[in-house]
Amino acid sequence: MTIRIPLSAPDITDAEIDAVTAVLRTSRLSLGPELEAFERAVAAYHSIPDAVAVSSGTAGLHLALLALGVGEGQEVIVPSFAFVAVANAVLQVRATPVFVDIDPVTLNLDPALVEEAITPRARAILVVHTFGVPAEMDRLQEIARRHNLVLIEDACEAIGAEYDSRKAGSFGDLAVLGFYPNKQITTGEGGCVLVRNGELADRLRSLRNQGRLSKRKDAAQEMERDPAARWFEHEEIGYNYRLSELAAALGRVQLDRVDEILAMRRAAAERYQSLLETISDLELPPIALPRRSVSWFVYVVRLTARGPGSPIDSGFRDRVQVQLARRGVATGRYFAPIHQQPAWYGRPSSVAAKVPITETIAQRTLALPFFNRITLAQQEEVVATLSLTMQECKR
Ligand SMILES: Cc1ncc(COP(=O)(O)O)c(C=O)c1O
Repeated sequence: MTIRIPLSAPDITDAEIDAVTAVLRTSRLSLGPELEAFERAVAAYHSIPDAVAVSSGTAGLHLALLALGVGEGQEVIVPSFAFVAVANAVLQVRATPVFVDIDPVTLNLDPALVEEAITPRARAILVVHTFGVPAEMDRLQEIARRHNLVLIEDACEAIGAEYDSRKAGSFGDLAVLGFYPNKQITTGEGGCVLVRNGELADRLRSLRNQGRLSKRKDAAQEMERDPAARWFEHEEIGYNYRLSELAAALGRVQLDRVDEILAMRRAAAERYQSLLETISDLELPPIALPRRSVSWFVYVVRLTARGPGSPIDSGFRDRVQVQLARRGVATGRYFAPIHQQPAWYGRPSSVAAKVPITETIAQRTLALPFFNRITLAQQEEVVATLSLTMQECKR
């Protein structure tokens, strides 16, 4: 089975290669000028005072929860229709995820259901901007404020998305970006926490670097001790979640190109939209939503019917996926609900989950090949193959 059209593909130009090569010619491969410049650029792009780059989106979620003091005995409201790291990070700080259902159009947390799920143990709302569609941030902010909860945005899939002309990631107490190679921009592996508050930024920088004092705090203490000795001083239990200079250099160039990248992705989504219009039994992703500008992460269709009027099951979607792969077209099952993952099965959070919309939609979703430089010819081939395969699988 040879895949001819991949699900995703990074877009690396000579500029990225030159930037990474330039770092390799220096002796500074970690905690250097590239990291600082990348962080400044990410913060400026989001009109936020600071950004702390980390080794992955997952690391960013973990540190965001830790830095905000979320821990044992507390509940964090999360979607189940999301990448598994969202709930895993909550477990990592010994808190309890509470799975809440989604809005069937935006596929993001439904604010009314969030409010219903708040108990006296609730401490945080972790909202994901699913597939780059911004969540309903004004209502979520208002709910968080009224119930005295912290609001964390998972914008790993949504760099550049906007709600009321403000960037996703600029609403929460903290927000997390992800730069895995399937994302709109990549650092290979990497992530970033967006932060407004200087104390929190210092804490995040310390936690990502084994609990060492952040450079700013270190300088502020005007310590007379040898800087090399201080490398072995750890103020608290931390982690190695650093982002290398190579990754930061790659990220800087990708971020410079982000507008061009988002425009290419939007154009590809619009092409799919018109090519797929004629296929029945498909629901297409929302392309224009009030108050929102989508940052296209993936292009996910929903298979709506098996035959005239009959409901669909996940078996149909899975058969379509296997047949497409046999014909060289890669697709993805975004997302299998977290509470139904083998690792989560039987856990109290999963047993308590009442998320019928998530469960119904997740059986039908199919992500089509989608990347910056996908060509019209490739998209036509995907659509023709999908149409043929769906007809065959219905029989
Ligand atoms: C919504 C969401 N959160 C978190 C992550 C985790 O990011 P990473 O893979 O960089 O750890 C991802 C993607 O990978 C994601 O899509």
